[in-house]
Amino acid sequence: MTQTGTPVHAVGWSPAGGLQLLDQRALPEREVLLTPRTIEEVADAIRTLAVRGAPAIGVAAAIGLASSLPRATPAEVESAAALLRGTRPTAVNLGWALDRMLAVARAAADAGDAGGDALGEAMRAEAEAIRAEDEAMCRAIGAHGQPWMEPGIGVLTHCNAGALATAGIGTALAPLYVAHARGVTPHVFACETRPLLQGARLTAWELRRAGIPVTVITDGMAGSVLASGAVALVIVGADRIAANGDVANKVGTYGLAVLAKHHGVPFVVAAPWSTVDLATPDGASIEIEMRAREELTVLGGRQVVPAGAEVHNPAFDVTPHTLITAMITDRGVLRPPFPFVVTSALVPPPV
Ligand code: MRU
Repeated sequence: MTQTGTPVHAVGWSPAGGLQLLDQRALPEREVLLTPRTIEEVADAIRTLAVRGAPAIGVAAAIGLASSLPRATPAEVESAAALLRGTRPTAVNLGWALDRMLAVARAAADAGDAGGDALGEAMRAEAEAIRAEDEAMCRAIGAHGQPWMEPGIGVLTHCNAGALATAGIGTALAPLYVAHARGVTPHVFACETRPLLQGARLTAWELRRAGIPVTVITDGMAGSVLASGAVALVIVGADRIAANGDVANKVGTYGLAVLAKHHGVPFVVAAPWSTVDLATPDGASIEIEMRAREELTVLGGRQVVPAGAEVHNPAFDVTPHTLITAMITDRGVLRPPFPFVVTSALVPPPV
């Protein structure tokens, strides 16, 4: 919920029953709604970051699949899901949501419904369940994160793991929103997050909209800001959490974790259970998305890297579990070690 009482809807259903996105490429200058209709348009919106953030791309894929193929055969659903799955490889939530949709399509095929209304209805219901569950998971993360929220606490975050990255109030920003609603307002330091500036453009936009104070810093300033003592908590989201607790998140996260450890500041990851991937044993096994050279070489329409210079542009990095103080999930707070198969590690939610 924002200061004006209007929630941010990054992803959801359009009034006509299709996919509706708040186009994040236009923020913070303009608020533009997109309604991708074909499966190619949905794939393009995910690939070009009109919708981004691990949970949000899972929800967008589910609603996009259900709404762009209202009377598809199970085989058509399979090929559309393969197209969407290939758009962004690192965030497990995308594949997780598509697998749920495919299970529905396969069950319909087994029941003999090939391309009828029953399949369409079942897919819409599953997509809505994925959206609603994500919203609820965000609220639960917000509640579980309250023990860290002290009045005026300085919180450093990276990229955008807020409402714009989910169907709800976010993951890393959820505890901040819940605290703010209780009258406990943090001060956020948002790393600008080169090269696509999700911190400067998106995190600062949604926090200001909610009335939460935010200071944008360049990524290179994080060390000196931590050294100054202004930050008592670093909190970030996650794109994939491996079975041993290693975390893939926006490139730059690993450096922040090292800095936080050096300065004795807790480094906390907030993510829904849909981001945990038990099939991936460790961080080294996570596929890291490589993005286009132009994201680095062109800045504000100007060429800033000379021709001939090589460019390295991974969208994510991996933070080893040994650097993580705690993980706030919708099921509770996990402390090291992070064996995701051992659910007894869960700490009960705060009352
Ligand atoms: O490339 P992006 O903008 O999709 O990267 C997003 C992040 O790295 C987020 O921190 C992560 O997806 C968690 S969002 C709740």
